[in-house]
Amino acid sequence: MNIFALNGSPRKNWNTAILLNKVLEGAASQNANTELIELYDLNFKGCTSCFFCKRKDREHGTCAMKDDLTPILERLKTADAIVLGSPIYFMNITSAMTAFLERFLFSNIIYSLEIPTVYPRKISSGFIYTMNVTENQADEYGVKINLKAIQNAMTRILGWTPELLFSYNTYQFTDYSKYESSMFSEEIKAKHKATQFPIDCENAFNMGKKLVMPQ
Ligand SMILES: Cc1cc2nc3c(=O)[nH]c(=O)nc-3n(C[C@H](O)[C@H](O)[C@H](O)COP(=O)(O)O)c2cc1C
Repeated sequence: MNIFALNGSPRKNWNTAILLNKVLEGAASQNANTELIELYDLNFKGCTSCFFCKRKDREHGTCAMKDDLTPILERLKTADAIVLGSPIYFMNITSAMTAFLERFLFSNIIYSLEIPTVYPRKISSGFIYTMNVTENQADEYGVKINLKAIQNAMTRILGWTPELLFSYNTYQFTDYSKYESSMFSEEIKAKHKATQFPIDCENAFNMGKKLVMPQ
């Protein structure tokens, strides 16, 4: 079993990355091969609407753009499971994750009523979201609604309804005293980090185990 994690945060050792690594640890505990891909290390753009992937005279499922994402998209065709992680920026996933998904998902769709996907296999998937707001605030701002369209596309294209993990109220700075942050209480943030974040990590580990269990 090969599982790939894609980090849509520019920060490599923070909330999203920690949770993605827990997913991979859970998958590794079931003897899966794991790989973490840092999207912010790659030089790539989102879809440029060339529609090469939808031409009748070309192999479907291939994005024609050539950049650092090209070999990654090829490697993802060998995945048995994939987990994506993104911080929430302006109540949605980050620009890097959006650009990646435009290329990965759209190149595996053709405009056919009969064929829902040209992705070569059915794979399990997960999506981890980390955000500063609390769960109540996220619901108030419609965050889950904003994320639904991509989740539906993943279900259709990868053949599996993604497992979801929402990590709220994340700790954002190593030293809150250095930043203007009077909107939040550092004390409450620290308490949440000490009590809830370990539970989020445990849930991420269990997600990893589940994603690589034979379907
Ligand atoms: C540009 C930017 C926009 C953000 N917008 C939001 C937002 O709309 N809602 C929210 O809850 N958090 C927002 N945040 C906070 C991040 O989602 C949060 O700190 C997240 O856990 C960061 O993930 P990381 O620690 O893995 O980098 C924003 C952060 C940045 C840098």
